[in-house]
Amino acid sequence: MERFDYLIPAVRGRAEKGSGRLALPMELGVEYGGFASWCVTVFMDRTGRKPGGQDIILFLNRKEELAEEGYEITITKEKIQVSASTERGVVWALTTVALLLEEESVPCGTISDSPKYQHRGLSVDCARHFFPAAEIKKIIEEISLAKMNVLHWHLTDDQGWRIESRRFPGLQKMSGQYYSQEEIREVCEYARLRGVEIIPEVDMPGHVSALLAAYPQYSCGEKPVKIKTGGGIFPVILCAGKEAVFDFLKDLLMEVTGLFPGERFHLGGDEAPKTEWKKCPCCQAKMLELGLEDWEELQGYFMSRVSEILAGLGKTAVCWNETLCAANHPQKMQAQYWTLEQRKAMEPYALAGKEWIYSDMFELYLDYPYSMTNLKKVYETIPHLGEEDVSGKEGLLGMEGCLWSEHITKCEKLEKLLFPRIYALADNTWSGADKYEEFTSRLTQAIASPLHQGILYTSRDWWTPTGPERQQEAFAYMASLSANMSEEVKEETMDSSSASNEEFGRAFMTKFFQPEDIPILMGEMQK
Ligand code: ACM
Ligand code: ZN
Repeated sequence: MERFDYLIPAVRGRAEKGSGRLALPMELGVEYGGFASWCVTVFMDRTGRKPGGQDIILFLNRKEELAEEGYEITITKEKIQVSASTERGVVWALTTVALLLEEESVPCGTISDSPKYQHRGLSVDCARHFFPAAEIKKIIEEISLAKMNVLHWHLTDDQGWRIESRRFPGLQKMSGQYYSQEEIREVCEYARLRGVEIIPEVDMPGHVSALLAAYPQYSCGEKPVKIKTGGGIFPVILCAGKEAVFDFLKDLLMEVTGLFPGERFHLGGDEAPKTEWKKCPCCQAKMLELGLEDWEELQGYFMSRVSEILAGLGKTAVCWNETLCAANHPQKMQAQYWTLEQRKAMEPYALAGKEWIYSDMFELYLDYPYSMTNLKKVYETIPHLGEEDVSGKEGLLGMEGCLWSEHITKCEKLEKLLFPRIYALADNTWSGADKYEEFTSRLTQAIASPLHQGILYTSRDWWTPTGPERQQEAFAYMASLSANMSEEVKEETMDSSSASNEEFGRAFMTKFFQPEDIPILMGEMQK
């Protein structure tokens, strides 16, 4: 096989190999054809080339009729011609050319390609555990090589606040490890050059223990809050009844949004228990004042107000699908679907053609071990709600894999969980290819490319584990989930009703386990 035959993601259009090769000079003349010069920077870095030299070898050509991220490449023995309608299209074309480079030359041929989905994302949780900026860049380079275009950066949670704020320095001071503003800007620029949009997430109104540890006055009870160490869902959240909370969030978001050039900003909205709101005179008064029907509507009001602040700052809010439980959810938002527990609100929204991203926890949560979510499952994931295949519905922007880090402390483990599963998602979202065996043979070749050096992979024998080893790993993971939860956390953690939700329980058993596991698991749970 030649490199032409094992691209990840697979070419979705046409790829025809010609005869002969083009020797790629170390200095490469470029005709930009009206494109910004930044779109060749990463190609030059990846191939060790420099723009310049006597002869023009690389011709960029604007072709407006091509899809947003689509591209065409023609390589002859004399030159490379790239057509695209956007700079990002050029970046993807040149990513392909860089992957084709072998022994200082590229094969002649033509490729015409464009993605199936516009949102091909990965979310990484850097709040539960902190991963250095260099590691985030390494991941961005890897996903960009697979033509994925979104890194959703989960930066705040109960266990940490990872953004340097000059306006509210208590935030990072309480958390210890954080990204400086300079590092954040550097990561965003690094991503932009690679065609990757950063969507930062500042989770609210729940998952805010780290914020409240620094500024407890923004909770309902205004009592001291401890930063958390274990995972869980914690009851003390931002108060929805005090104006001071929105004043604070406005100042905070004004500063934070300025660090991120992208148009989208994730506001979280997941797992926000209403325990404290129900006891709070300010929240109660707000409910009465607005004539709200229930506590979910108070969250609808909260998310709407903050999304309006964001709109004023030129950003669109992305929110987890719980946000849709209230009819007064933000008017203009994108929903990220992860849990079927609140699916009832998701369905009419998706069927109305509104914008959303598919991140079903049973299929695309990459913190679960390979024994529970194997490579094949990720590769074959088709967006669905209940039994209904919604992959072709208007409004579905694409898919995103999520890597939560409650149980991940080291970069090595982070990488092995991501790679190669994230390439399965890249293939799935770009080309929608559906031949798993063919994919794994392509993958084996592709990851041997020098461009992928330095990343740790789960080895091939564990991509889709079977036999007693699969069961052992899955059971050990389940045991570690409960063992790692301290008594304090168990007490404080809210029962998010998952145990009582039959559909969720059934899905958990059948999506993560095999039929033969279930009697053993049920036995364990009864102990
Ligand atoms: C989530 O997993 N709480 C979005
Ligand atoms: Zn309150």
